[in-house]
Amino acid sequence: MQITSKLPDVTTTIFTIMSQLASKHGAINLSQGFPDFGVDQKLKDLANHYLQGGYNQYAPMAGVLELRQAIAQKKQVMYGCSLDPETEITVTNGATEAIYSAIAALVGAGDEVIIFEPAYDSYVPAIEVNGGVVVPLRLKSPDYQIDWDQVKDMVTSKTRMIMINSPHNPSGAILRQDDLAVLQEIVEDTNILVLSDEVYQHLIYEGEQHQSVLRYPDLYQRSIITMSFGKTFHATGWRIGYVIAPSEITAEIRKVHQSNTFGINRPLQHAMADYLTTPEHYLSLPSFFQRKRDLFLSAMVDTPFEFLDCAGTYFALASYREISDAGDQEFARWLTTEKGVAVIPISSFYSDGTDEKIVRFCFAKTDELLVSAAEKLRT
Ligand SMILES: Cc1ncc(COP(=O)(O)O)c(C=O)c1O
Repeated sequence: MQITSKLPDVTTTIFTIMSQLASKHGAINLSQGFPDFGVDQKLKDLANHYLQGGYNQYAPMAGVLELRQAIAQKKQVMYGCSLDPETEITVTNGATEAIYSAIAALVGAGDEVIIFEPAYDSYVPAIEVNGGVVVPLRLKSPDYQIDWDQVKDMVTSKTRMIMINSPHNPSGAILRQDDLAVLQEIVEDTNILVLSDEVYQHLIYEGEQHQSVLRYPDLYQRSIITMSFGKTFHATGWRIGYVIAPSEITAEIRKVHQSNTFGINRPLQHAMADYLTTPEHYLSLPSFFQRKRDLFLSAMVDTPFEFLDCAGTYFALASYREISDAGDQEFARWLTTEKGVAVIPISSFYSDGTDEKIVRFCFAKTDELLVSAAEKLRT
């Protein structure tokens, strides 16, 4: 039997590779984007409560209504928008499924999707497996800003979607009001959808406001916003995300979601719904992570790594040109096996492997671990 791969270029993700290497060599793992500290005890107690309380059968396809209502309330608090939980919010298996279901529902064979690289690694396979054509615009260090004139030039009659991600993994760059205003101008009077991946919405520093598409009612009319409770509440293993879109778009996304996962685990959705009733649980996140960022950067200040600005996310990028001429893949492996700290090489986020000799450190770790990593790196 012959199997023709629909995704011949896809291999094991760099996150899995580096995490495995870290574990094999006993290295401190600052590679994959997950916290090493626990989920809030209150949230775990709520999960236990619903597990024990008999909430263990299928959840409604679109998600437990109480959770969708709590999400709508949260968006009102954050962005002043009014969403209909019945028709505009769908709970998914992490943001990964939200992104996949949206693309599968809305991108057809030959449709072009503009993405900005470096890009999170699920975007390209999700587009390609559905017959879409990836049109990448390469963002460069040190600031990774989008040149919107270039975007205008890339738009064709086949452009179906533009994907944005702010705060941006891996660069930590954020989009500001001006960016959203130009994007809105570009897509106005076209058939182009915007997929805005906002999983790091709360991880934004120095008092900056997150420019969610939800703040822009006209832009929202053609948009899909993906979010993740895994990132927000240090629970990446719970696999709870959601997708927000106007009702006609949501109806299409739900057709894929329904035949893909149908719905996701029920007791944890109820637990999240209760937990969200206290806004402090998410409003405290920027200062929590900004302190970690500053702790790590100050512990690294006397090293030859040159750190770039980090306006958001829990990733810090650094150039290692002062240390080595090696390519970033080789450097990341060497740092893991010889120096005991695992990082992610940024070339993995470019489809053409662009290598600017920059690696990514995840600082969503305990203070002790960040300090020990910096001690190892100083050697
Ligand atoms: C930019 C971006 N989008 C989406 C995801 C996926 O989020 P989830 O874990 O909720 O599937 C990640 C995870 O690292 C990410 O960095």
